[in-house]
Amino acid sequence: MPLLLAALVLAGVHVSQMRTMSIIPKPVSVQLSDGNFTLNATTSITAPASLGKLAKRLQSYLAPATGFPFPLVKDGASNTISLKLDKSFASLGSEGYRLSVSRDRVDIQSSTQAGVFYGVQSLRQMLPNEVFNSSQVSGVEWNVPCSTIEDQPRFTWRGLHLDVGRHFMPKEFVLKYIDLLALHKMNTLHFHLTEDQGWRIEIKKYPKLTSVGAWRKETMAGHYEEHRYDGTPHGGFYTQKEIKEIVKYAQDRFVTVVPEIEMPGHAQAAIAAYPELGNTGKQLEVGTHWGVYENVYNVEDKTIQFQKDVLTEVLALFPSKFIHIGGDECPKEQWKASPQAQAKIKALGLKDENELQSWFIHQIDAFLAAKGRRLIGWDEILEGGLAPGAAVMSWRGEEGGIASAKAGHDVVMTPGSHTYFDHYQSQDHKAEGLAIGGFLPLDKVYSYEPIPHQLNSEEAKHVLGAQGQLWTEYIPTPSRVEYMAYPRACALAEVLWTPKEEKNYPDFIGRLRVHVDRLSKLNVNYRKLDPKP
Ligand code: ACM
Repeated sequence: MPLLLAALVLAGVHVSQMRTMSIIPKPVSVQLSDGNFTLNATTSITAPASLGKLAKRLQSYLAPATGFPFPLVKDGASNTISLKLDKSFASLGSEGYRLSVSRDRVDIQSSTQAGVFYGVQSLRQMLPNEVFNSSQVSGVEWNVPCSTIEDQPRFTWRGLHLDVGRHFMPKEFVLKYIDLLALHKMNTLHFHLTEDQGWRIEIKKYPKLTSVGAWRKETMAGHYEEHRYDGTPHGGFYTQKEIKEIVKYAQDRFVTVVPEIEMPGHAQAAIAAYPELGNTGKQLEVGTHWGVYENVYNVEDKTIQFQKDVLTEVLALFPSKFIHIGGDECPKEQWKASPQAQAKIKALGLKDENELQSWFIHQIDAFLAAKGRRLIGWDEILEGGLAPGAAVMSWRGEEGGIASAKAGHDVVMTPGSHTYFDHYQSQDHKAEGLAIGGFLPLDKVYSYEPIPHQLNSEEAKHVLGAQGQLWTEYIPTPSRVEYMAYPRACALAEVLWTPKEEKNYPDFIGRLRVHVDRLSKLNVNYRKLDPKP
């Protein structure tokens, strides 16, 4: 038994009470009282028909480890976990909840389904960690400490990104990634679906995007300078049926999947499939090395129409209000050399290639706006003028985010300094295994403040939140994604949920030491915590 735990047990502090304090992200307010609610073979779940799906989800969280059936009833009076929608909790916002535990019942109340769901996530983390075992565990007392929690998130965009372009990730893993997001009360998966090195979503009108664009002949091995290749074909894509399944799975867990279809750069896989989309007419191959490619889309009307056709299919699959169109790292060399691109600049009365990129993005912004959606892109979309309704992801530091918020645009903070989870987690690179570079330890993620001090309180309202980036050049497998994402995503979840004044790193680490055991039970290959100093 760890020393601290032993001391607390000797002092008469109940172990399960300590677990109340091991909820990640830390709730806004927790009041502990004496006693426990104990789950047993006759505990029921009470829910109205409108919460039937959530009640079943709760049942699926509790039944496997406990072996208890948790029958669903309409009006359990005692020994029940009651889920309830109640407008009087609207003051807790659209994702807040109240969870109260007494000796004979548990009540989870919210004005929304999402709030009830987050109450359920807290309840899971108030039980002994064994509840996260998917197989039956015997001999555990399933106590939940009597308490009242009132809780709501600080930010509305609480996300993780996943690049499936550089390395394809199987659908089953994407579903697990969504489950882990939900466990941490995160609500956005930014699904980076197209890259130079692979196009990952079936588009019925353009079948070669996946028959050609989803496959590369080999992959760079080791760091860029080494110029080594593995000689092994790599590829894969999601059919539209699989995309629907992912989106539905996420919806059921209150996660919005924001698709990213990159343009006008990071387009080599698409141009390899359809050379007429490029500037040179040359037959290219799907990218095999990392970095920024010169081969970008041309600016012909037919190519803009291609983007709209692709997006039309994408919009039918993803209900997300925001649609990400990339916009980063688009070298302008080919547009400078292209008579067609130069003619376009002249015909449109534009100043230069930056304004041409801006024109490109404006076309897409108008298209999305007409369909009732909103464009979001990386901060390069600021160059040459931002489309009126567009939102920005600030990745090259915070400057883009500050400029956008000051100009009245919504922003998601994604600075490389604090949210790039492809960076190393320690300075011991040998021990960590190959990563792209950088250094982003857990405490630095935890220290992140998404609202830049340069913003006044009105401007700050444009900061929707933040998200962690999982670029997968050097992350070839699901297990490696988990290693890079966790536990840093736990820290980010708390940055995005918990009030700033309530954050405390040593307290977080104490809860995290309990929490990582839950991740183990969920078979997550998280990076082990550094030993206590
Ligand atoms: C990016 O990291 N290129 C957005």
